[in-house]
Amino acid sequence: LTARIFLKLIAGILGVLIVALGAVDVLASRVAESNYRETLIRELTEKGRTVAALLDQEAVASSDTVQQVARASNSRVTLVAPNGQVLVDSEANPARMENHANRPEIQQALAGKVGSTIRQSGTVGTSFLYVAVPCPQGALRLAVPLAEVHARVNDIRKRMLASTALAFLPAFVVAAFLARSVSAKLGSIIEYAGKLAQGDFRARLGQQGLDELGVLAQKLNETGANLERIMAELQREHQELEKLERVRKDFVINVSHELRTPLASIQGYTETLLGGAIHDPDNNIRFLNIIRQNAERLTNLASDLLTLSRIELKTQKFQFASYYVNGLLVDCIDAMRPLSERKNLHIELEPAPEDCEVFCDSKAVHQALTNLLDNAIKYTPENGHIFIGARPLPAANGAAGAEPRFVEFYVRDTGIGIPAEDLPRLFERFYRVDKARSRELGGTGLGLAIVKHLARAHGGEVSVTSELGKGSRFAFTIPVNDLGLMEATPPVQAELTIS
Ligand SMILES: Nc1ncnc2c1ncn2[C@@H]1O[C@H](COP(=O)(O)OP(=O)(O)OP(=O)(O)O)[C@@H](O)[C@H]1O
Ligand SMILES: [Mg+2]
Repeated sequence: LTARIFLKLIAGILGVLIVALGAVDVLASRVAESNYRETLIRELTEKGRTVAALLDQEAVASSDTVQQVARASNSRVTLVAPNGQVLVDSEANPARMENHANRPEIQQALAGKVGSTIRQSGTVGTSFLYVAVPCPQGALRLAVPLAEVHARVNDIRKRMLASTALAFLPAFVVAAFLARSVSAKLGSIIEYAGKLAQGDFRARLGQQGLDELGVLAQKLNETGANLERIMAELQREHQELEKLERVRKDFVINVSHELRTPLASIQGYTETLLGGAIHDPDNNIRFLNIIRQNAERLTNLASDLLTLSRIELKTQKFQFASYYVNGLLVDCIDAMRPLSERKNLHIELEPAPEDCEVFCDSKAVHQALTNLLDNAIKYTPENGHIFIGARPLPAANGAAGAEPRFVEFYVRDTGIGIPAEDLPRLFERFYRVDKARSRELGGTGLGLAIVKHLARAHGGEVSVTSELGKGSRFAFTIPVNDLGLMEATPPVQAELTIS
């Protein structure tokens, strides 16, 4: 391919050189011809004048003298009388020659000037250059055949062509060198374009100089870089979508699974009761209680799922306002006291500064805190300790006023703790450290996912630290001031961002 480009370039250059050569030839031969003709006319005029002077001394011009002059001047010599009659001619018999009065050069000479013409000779039959000068006998005309002029010009032309061609040789070598460098550059650019076409976006062209080809190479490099970036982005999006799809499938499987257990239990006990156990006073109430517990579980599951999807689809309407942090904490402890007392657990309040406020939906914060307290109660053995509190977080970058400030709510317990490897996934839906144990305690694994989504809906985040066998600390942050989340994002299309 490079060879083809090279050949084309060389052929083009050669063509240009040949045309230039032709132009030089045409121009040079024209100039040479007219130059030579002028010189010839001047020479013939000089000769003519000399001969005319000579003839002046001789009373009558003899044919011999004319012949001599003709031989000496290497031209045809004609002597014409004022009436146009040819008196003497060096190459023809004057008796047989027509009257020359109408010849323009003769007319000029008879008028006392020098006349010159190029014309076919009526007498000899070839083209001649005629020069006529006045002389005592009338007009003296000298003529040389044009063929001689042509021969001289051709000679000059040949020499000119040869030297021009010689001068073009180095030009051609330089052009060939340039053509080779251009074709090599083009070759590498074409090769690179081929790589791009085949999807190899990582390849890059080397430095190609500052000319148009260099700019083209640079643009192609930019194109390659852009394509590489876009491809990487698409790949990442693709992976993200795949991950989402996996999460969605897991979610459906999880929900079905969570529904099946209580439903199977309800079905089983109902059938047992219908099969006669309803009349068994030892068991009938127990069975009905189990049915009720499972129905309760289904209700809880349904309401948890509903809460989660409402937050996610942003159809949940939050009522944002400023609240005292300590008030929120006390409300929550009051709500959970019956549960904690059943296990003889002590909930201790670690209050925030008295005037500490947050901008939130109080029901949402209440639910998040109860979910954390519920876990603490569930996963802390009897007689354990639970601490609930809040603390204003220092602004992210020192004293800067524009940064949103947050308050951290936390629940700490002296419970069973969580293995480190489970911590990263703890806030995913349905994720439980010990599935059997959690289910036994009536958990579905949605509590922490709800806490996370509630916190995020406020612009906050969740965190957890835990030590196996010693206890855990769960926390979430809520902003102190209005972050403008209220009017943000109206309900959009249902999207599945489950995690
Ligand atoms: N304070 C804690 N101490 C130890 N483990 C905990 C604690 N809180 C949560 N966990 C672990 O995290 C898992 C997920 O908690 P999450 O609240 O999401 O679900 P759950 O309590 O099992 O069910 P529910 O949906 O009823 O809250 C729990 O199953 C438990 O294994
Ligand atoms: Mg829970």
